[in-house]
Amino acid sequence: MEEFRSSTEDIYTRRRSSRDRRCLIITIVVVVIATFIIGILIGRYAACPDAKSADGKTGLYLKDVPDRLVKDADPEIESLLINGMKEENVRANLKMLTEKPHLGGTEGNYELGRKLKTFWEDAGFDHVTLAPYKVLLSYPNMSNLNFVELLDENGATIYKSNLTEPILTPEEDKPDVVPPFNAYSPQGDIKGDLVYMNYGRHEDYQYLESHTNINVSGKIVLARYGKIFRGDKVKQAERRGAIGVILFSDPADITTGNVSKVYPDDWWLPPSGAQRGSIYIGVGDPLTPGYPAIETAYRKKDPEEWMPGIPCHPIGYGIAIHLMNAMGGDEVPISWRGKMNTTYRYGDGFQKPGWKARIFVSTKDTSVTTYNAIGVIRGSVEPDRYVLVGNHRDAWVFGALDPSSGTAVMMEMSRVMGELVKSGRWRPRRSIIFCSWGAEEYGLVGSIEWVEHYSKALAARAVAYLNVDIAVQGNSSLRALGTPLIYRSLYEATKKVPNPNDTEVAAGRKTVYDTWMKTYPWKKYDRPKVTLPGSGSDYAPFRDRIGIPCVDIRYTWDSSVYQLSAYPMYHSVYETFYLVDNIMDIGFKYHTSVGRVWVDIARNLADSLIIPFNVSDYSDTLQDMTDSLISKFEQILTDNDINPDLLRQVVANFTEATHVFEKYVQEANKNDPYVIRKINDQLMSLERVFIEPTGLPGRKYKRNMVFTESSLDSYSGSGFPGLSDALTNIKENKDVENQIEILKKHYSVILYCIQSASSILREVDNFIVDY
Ligand SMILES: *[C@@H]1O[C@H](CO)[C@@H](O)[C@H](O)[C@H]1NC(C)=O
Ligand SMILES: *[C@@H]1O[C@H](CO)[C@@H](O)[C@H](O)[C@H]1NC(C)=O
Ligand SMILES: *[C@@H]1O[C@H](CO)[C@@H](O)[C@H](O)[C@H]1NC(C)=O
Ligand SMILES: *[C@@H]1O[C@H](CO)[C@@H](O)[C@H](O)[C@H]1NC(C)=O
Ligand SMILES: *[C@@H]1O[C@H](CO)[C@@H](O)[C@H](O)[C@H]1NC(C)=O
Ligand SMILES: *[C@@H]1O[C@H](CO)[C@@H](O)[C@H](O)[C@H]1NC(C)=O
Ligand SMILES: *[C@@H]1O[C@H](CO)[C@@H](O)[C@H](O)[C@H]1NC(C)=O
Ligand SMILES: *[C@@H]1O[C@H](CO)[C@@H](O)[C@H](O)[C@H]1NC(C)=O
Ligand SMILES: *[C@@H]1O[C@H](CO)[C@@H](O)[C@H](O)[C@H]1NC(C)=O
Repeated sequence: MEEFRSSTEDIYTRRRSSRDRRCLIITIVVVVIATFIIGILIGRYAACPDAKSADGKTGLYLKDVPDRLVKDADPEIESLLINGMKEENVRANLKMLTEKPHLGGTEGNYELGRKLKTFWEDAGFDHVTLAPYKVLLSYPNMSNLNFVELLDENGATIYKSNLTEPILTPEEDKPDVVPPFNAYSPQGDIKGDLVYMNYGRHEDYQYLESHTNINVSGKIVLARYGKIFRGDKVKQAERRGAIGVILFSDPADITTGNVSKVYPDDWWLPPSGAQRGSIYIGVGDPLTPGYPAIETAYRKKDPEEWMPGIPCHPIGYGIAIHLMNAMGGDEVPISWRGKMNTTYRYGDGFQKPGWKARIFVSTKDTSVTTYNAIGVIRGSVEPDRYVLVGNHRDAWVFGALDPSSGTAVMMEMSRVMGELVKSGRWRPRRSIIFCSWGAEEYGLVGSIEWVEHYSKALAARAVAYLNVDIAVQGNSSLRALGTPLIYRSLYEATKKVPNPNDTEVAAGRKTVYDTWMKTYPWKKYDRPKVTLPGSGSDYAPFRDRIGIPCVDIRYTWDSSVYQLSAYPMYHSVYETFYLVDNIMDIGFKYHTSVGRVWVDIARNLADSLIIPFNVSDYSDTLQDMTDSLISKFEQILTDNDINPDLLRQVVANFTEATHVFEKYVQEANKNDPYVIRKINDQLMSLERVFIEPTGLPGRKYKRNMVFTESSLDSYSGSGFPGLSDALTNIKENKDVENQIEILKKHYSVILYCIQSASSILREVDNFIVDY
């Protein structure tokens, strides 16, 4: 209405005077010329050939795209970061971190969390928080400590384990040291006969049952640490009716066997050292499974996953040898013998009639608050894409190796990155998020709660999670666990970082990669071996719940020289700063090298225009997993009308899709920010397609169909865990009818997932497959 009225007015005014008319003509001429010029300009840019993206399908005006949106990483930054990491800072960080005990849920750990928060604020981070979770942890009663005893026929004590590990250097002489205990053990005071069960594995019981008449029902199981997760040892014993478990560290598994020189003179565990550790099989807060333990969470009355129902206590070999000396029964086979100076027997009774073993446990589950410290460097171009780096902060005692060696390095890495950001020289393309988890030792409690809390945001935005739990546990070579999309950035980083060992350099191995390649060669691929991760650290929730590519790296001992089940001082009070500073990494060169590799992977993932994931590594891995599964179980598959060729075919089709995708990426117009975003979204989505909300058969929180660890041992990684679990059960004649149905359904789910992976990589308007 308003417009119509004003144009009528125009008709009247035009008639008013010729002076007005002349004015009007000039205005029209000016307008026509201006329109013409604008038209030429529009025409020029619209017709400009390089304005179109390579495939000619999008019509974005690329001349308007600021350079910074499509610029690849600045190569100078990588050396500034790598060279910026300083040995003396890592050392100072470790000294600070190990001054006091910092067990999950305690004031000591909260205090370190606050220090980290301040550190990151000072480093110039954009956002830092301490995120609290109210969780169920477990502690011994400090005025009524746990022990193991050997009693004679009158109930008098022959030997009793020390209530605490004796102090060997002044450093261990601090308040709040928690003595050896197994977290989540129920309380109990029991007496009984001992049966030695080797490592306490399923196959050890099979051996016992087929070679002896011994039955552990009603007995106490004595088992050595090593080979499998300690919680599985307790579960195996409890399932067979045992009334308690004593776990010990055998010199065979944590020394060379020659125990004449131990801490504080060497890195070998002394006889008095004992391994603490959780025996809960589930992960995360036991009372809020599947959801974060925030204030508003519903808390179950009882844990959902398997909780030990029999008391359990860990001891050192200094007391275990006295138990073994007194045990009766036949000698065990050679493979069951450790390296204590004694005769290893099955037990099931003592040499002296009436003698008994006793376990006293006062440990109690307690509701406490644990804090994750989270620090963010905001990305400059894609702030909504997160590269996560992390490590836990809680330790059983001083934790100089596990986890403070990792935290000390992470702090130095955050300082170096923060410094470049503060100076204005650099800001990563994507956001980098630093994570310090509060209670990993109790079953990944810190990271699980956080991943559950933010799973929706992380599933949409996280690029990768890079973990370093223990940075250094030896000085022979790098070792890596990881999922295949990370391999490329891992190899690239290790090829840049100088070898910290001068002897190795003199032998021509100039980089970390070179020694890694020599120590752990992957012959098939002509590169160093990366193994699939188990559930041993905080990468597991990222992988299992939301399908985020992950890696864990460390420097470690030479496994061809030392056959150790863990580094010797693992979870004992003797993991001190003294140990690291004087024995394990004098000069902190190995720590710093791990940090240099870590910082470069993070930078590469955060800064590269195209996320440096190699999709061929993914298809190669699926190919290898397929070959190994079929070679192991082909007969069972075909016996049950399952066609192994279907799996081979979908993997082959996926491999083909990766080749097409790689070619597409190579030729794509990298000046178009939407093409970049599209490719990066495809790369980020790839691992997510293997996440199924219903979980693996019988394991509803294990949602990654391909890379979750096997259910038979929580420590080691396994490919196609659902298939191999069902096939193993069928092979062992367990629950066969049911397992065949599970197998058939799950097989089809795996085929579907791999087909989805092909779809994701196909051209976006051609993802619907017509067969
Ligand atoms: C710890 O043990 C003492 C001594 O037996 C007892 O009085 C106290 O109640 C126990 N504390 C807890 C938290 O169970
Ligand atoms: C061990 O003894 C228990 C209780 O007597 C019994 O239920 C179980 O079947 C026995 N196990 C074996 C392997 O004989
Ligand atoms: C054990 O180590 C000590 C000191 O390192 C050495 O003197 C001794 O010969 C070794 N014993 C054996 C049996 O190797
Ligand atoms: C117990 O502690 C004492 C010192 O407090 C030490 O001499 C002894 O070797 C320890 N015993 C064991 C079995 O570790
Ligand atoms: C092993 O024990 C025996 C008997 O107790 C002892 O005579 C021998 O010296 C010990 N050997 C070592 C290497 O400690
Ligand atoms: C590390 O290297 C030093 C020097 O060669 C050596 O003395 C030390 O025992 C090594 N530590 C470990 C844990 O391998
Ligand atoms: C360096 O490597 C050599 C093997 O090439 C090894 O013997 C030596 O112990 C290593 N040194 C350190 C300090 O780790
Ligand atoms: C991925 O790895 C394959 C095999 O190693 C290699 O041929 C290919 O060039 C790599 N692709 C990229 C993008 O690095
Ligand atoms: C693999 O791809 C071919 C060609 O597109 C198709 O005919 C075949 O059905 C696919 N196989 C599977 C198992 O998806």
